[in-house]
Amino acid sequence: MNSDLEKIILSAEQISSRIQEIAEDINRHYQDTVREIILITLLDGAIVFTADLIRHISVPLRLDCIRVSSYGNSTNPETAPRILGTLKSEVQDKHVLLVDDILDTGNTMKKVFAEVSSKCPASLKTCVFLDKPERRENNFQADWSGFNIPDEFVVGYGLDYAGRYRELPYLGTLKPAIYSQTS
Ligand code: IMP
Ligand code: MG
Repeated sequence: MNSDLEKIILSAEQISSRIQEIAEDINRHYQDTVREIILITLLDGAIVFTADLIRHISVPLRLDCIRVSSYGNSTNPETAPRILGTLKSEVQDKHVLLVDDILDTGNTMKKVFAEVSSKCPASLKTCVFLDKPERRENNFQADWSGFNIPDEFVVGYGLDYAGRYRELPYLGTLKPAIYSQTS
């Protein structure tokens, strides 16, 4: 375990087997009814989850991405999320799946969902790796979610603190001392 971590919450093995289950569910949902989906991943946090998930998806897909302004160096949203840049795909009349790392307050997904929805896709679904239901500030719910976790700030498997720890293959919490250090 990385020495900055206090504890591991999800091991690489737990993550991997859950991702296979979600992918099977997603495959069941789309197979036989759609020819192709556009999977939009939210940068940067969902990169690792998306990379693993799509390798178990059997429905043909096109990959696109959206970047949303982030937490900066804190563990709490500082400002309302802002969508940065534009999609390369035309989503009108397409089946779109939004993928993010975590539903926390739900404000990011709500914002991106509304934005993509306004472009009239044929269908719009959402998939998140993690869900912290206690933190929700709206009624947003994902169609597919990997794990519910308690209200603790987590890092690893794509999730960062101040830009670090995304590369860890597991999910964990940081030692309190890490938050008081300046880097
Ligand atoms: P929301 O808009 O509050 O739902 O926050 C969503 C975004 O905040 C996620 O895409 C993450 O990038 C970030 N985030 C929320 N909780 C955590 C956490 O525990 N660790 C790392 N990033 C987080
Ligand atoms: Mg994110």
